[in-house]
Amino acid sequence: MSDNAIFIGKSTRREELYLSKANRHGLVTGATGTGKTVTLQILAEGFSNAGVPVFAADIKGDLSGIAEKGEPKDFLLKRAEKIDFDDYGFEASPAIFYDLFGVEGHPIRTTVSDMGPVLLSRLMGLTEAQEGALNILFRIADEEGLLVLDLKDLRALLADIATRGGNLTTQYGNVSDQTIGAIQRRLVVLEEQGGSHFFGEPAFKIADLMRTTRDGRGYVSVLAADKLMEAPQLYATFLLWLMSELFEELPEVGDPERPRLVFFFDEAHLLFNDAPPGLLEKIEQVVRLIRSKGVGIYFVTQNPLDVPDTVLSQLGNRVQHALRAFTPRDQKAVKAAAQTFRQNPAFDTEKAITELGVGEALVSVLDEKGVPTMVERTLIRPPSGKLGPIDQATRQSLIHNSPISGEYDKPIDRESAYEVLAKRSAERQAQAQAQAKRKAAEDEAKREAKASSSSRGRETATERFFKNVASSVGRQVGPLLVRALVRGVLGSLKRR
Ligand SMILES: Nc1ncnc2c1ncn2[C@@H]1O[C@H](COP(=O)(O)OP(=O)(O)OP(=O)(O)O)[C@@H](O)[C@H]1O
Ligand SMILES: [Mg+2]
Repeated sequence: MSDNAIFIGKSTRREELYLSKANRHGLVTGATGTGKTVTLQILAEGFSNAGVPVFAADIKGDLSGIAEKGEPKDFLLKRAEKIDFDDYGFEASPAIFYDLFGVEGHPIRTTVSDMGPVLLSRLMGLTEAQEGALNILFRIADEEGLLVLDLKDLRALLADIATRGGNLTTQYGNVSDQTIGAIQRRLVVLEEQGGSHFFGEPAFKIADLMRTTRDGRGYVSVLAADKLMEAPQLYATFLLWLMSELFEELPEVGDPERPRLVFFFDEAHLLFNDAPPGLLEKIEQVVRLIRSKGVGIYFVTQNPLDVPDTVLSQLGNRVQHALRAFTPRDQKAVKAAAQTFRQNPAFDTEKAITELGVGEALVSVLDEKGVPTMVERTLIRPPSGKLGPIDQATRQSLIHNSPISGEYDKPIDRESAYEVLAKRSAERQAQAQAQAKRKAAEDEAKREAKASSSSRGRETATERFFKNVASSVGRQVGPLLVRALVRGVLGSLKRR
């Protein structure tokens, strides 16, 4: 096996993915059950062996087997024999498990400010106007030195802005009460989806995705995404955030000999589904530019039509598994998929796509000059790791012994907007209390002076006083405070 390429499988020749072209991105497509996950696994294993760290989302849990040595099952050995894969063997890949919920792996968190208004808006499904308001909110927080780390901070900030009352106008623009209310409601939805797990500290350090073992293999970071998939927007935005973090933090390296990291984006259609044009443009830009940072992005989805043209045209290495062609719409998709390949005169691409067996695919990669190879009908190699999910005990022991064990496992909750605003509002309340108390005492003095000079009504001065305090205080600071205030006032009355 050559050490500048990853073995993928066999067509009329050996099919390999060139490491020097692996940062020119890729695409793995196919209908359900056609072999996408196994292809993802053999690619990840290949990269890891070549010293390239990998990040991959594990939608169904069946990629986790990569962390365990495979078993020599008959059909695997037969496939290996059929493709002349003589040195086929079984071994585990070094893996680190992650899970936003912190159960199936180490938690990954970031702060609300780190995520920023654009992605946060996408996450909450905000309108453009609401996104504008969120922007203003972030700037106010910045100006006032408020750290917005977790969703609790964001909630406190929204509530605070709301109490500043009536359609706040700042030097940046207007924020209406209605908009704040709408964002607050979207925030509740995000919290219900489990979004609060993802925000806070310790914030994830991207460098942890770039780890290699002492003997030079790349770690495969496997994100448990089965539960996460219940909130597709959270899943897609989270991966997009990781991608943009990589983009922001990594230095330019041009076209390296091998990628610094390969990032698999499974169920990629979720990223593009009704993404607003502005966001699509950003995604397209990140994908285009991240290449020179040495990161290869591999989208995995059912159909190439799931990926917008501007992105699709940047995906150089392609593995197309079988597609069904039952309906006219299916047929259209097959046609479109076929047209994305450099045609091979030896067969009809369109027809081949519908005929491919499980674990068989049309493959075209970028050759050493960066030119797409002619499409080839390829039997994909069997994996060296376990096929299917790892068992719980093995997973838990891998988590326990991982190189980042203890780094993120416990959340930290340091002083941020929530605490500061709570303190501020307590101070404001105390001030209001003191003021009300002073005023009440003055009023009482006046009334008593009046009552002793004129003898009016059956209402005693004290009765009148309590009514007064209760209503004026009630108006001023809300009913909850009245009891405390009255008690304070009573104390001062008693003392006399
Ligand atoms: N390269 C391969 N070598 C040997 N067996 C394979 C290969 N690819 C797929 N298979 C067999 O086909 C099964 C289904 O493959 P896989 O799970 O990769 O499909 P999939 O496209 O990911 O399906 P889904 O869309 O349901 O996730 C595997 O469990 C395995 O038994
Ligand atoms: Mg799969």
